[in-house]
Amino acid sequence: MKLFLDTANLDEIREIASWGVLDGVTTNPTLVAKEGRDFRETILEICKIVDGPISAEVVSTTADEMVWEARSYAQWHKNVYVKLPMIPEGLKALAAVSKEGIKTNVTLIFQPNQALLAAKAGASIVSPFIGRLDDHSHEGMEIIAKIKTIFRNYGYKTEVLVASVRDPVHVVDAAMIGADIATMPYGVFKKLPLHPLTDIGLKRFLDDWAKAKQGKTG
Ligand code: E4P
Repeated sequence: MKLFLDTANLDEIREIASWGVLDGVTTNPTLVAKEGRDFRETILEICKIVDGPISAEVVSTTADEMVWEARSYAQWHKNVYVKLPMIPEGLKALAAVSKEGIKTNVTLIFQPNQALLAAKAGASIVSPFIGRLDDHSHEGMEIIAKIKTIFRNYGYKTEVLVASVRDPVHVVDAAMIGADIATMPYGVFKKLPLHPLTDIGLKRFLDDWAKAKQGKTG
C-alpha cells in the first residue's frame, strides 16, 4: 500500500520523507494557498524531495481550460499527476488528456458511479473523500470497498486513493480493504508509528540495561 502526504508544506514533506516510507504527495488549491508560495515552484520543490506521484490540481471549470492547464502542469515534471474535479467538464478533459499519456488524479469523488466514470475515461488515480462523507453521517469507507470491487470486476487499472483521511484508523481500514493508496495530513502521518506501550517498553529496556551495566562495573 502506498502512503502519501496531503500537504504543500515543504518542512512537513521533508520530515516524513526522511522516514523512508513516503510514496507521494497530494496537494489541492486550499493547501497550496495556505503556504503562500508560487504554485509551480512549490510543486517542483516537492518533486525534488519525493520521487513519486505528486498531485497538482487544476483551477478552471471548463474542459478546454482544464486541458490547457493539464498539458502545462504535465510539462513541469515527469512525476506530476494532474488533479481534475469529478464534474462532466472534468470528465471531458480527463478523456482528452489521458489519451495523450498525461497522468491524472480525479478528485472530489463521493460515490462509486463517479469512480466508474473516471476509470472509463482513463484516470490513473481516483480520490474518494472519506472524512468529508463521515462528516455527513455516511460511512465513508464503504465506498472504497465498492469502488475496489467495481474496478476488479472490469479489470480497470485505475488506482484507488483514500483521501480526506482524518485519523490512523482510516489508514488501517483502507489497508484492510486493499486500497492502493492513502493520503493523509502531516498530523495523522506523525501518529502512524506511535504507541504508548512502545515508549514504556523502550524506557524499561534502557533503564534495565543501564542498571545492569552499573552493577557489573561497580
Ligand atoms: C486529497 O487529495 C485532498 O487534498 C484531501 O484529502 C482533502 O482532505 P480534507 O477533507 O481533509 O480537506
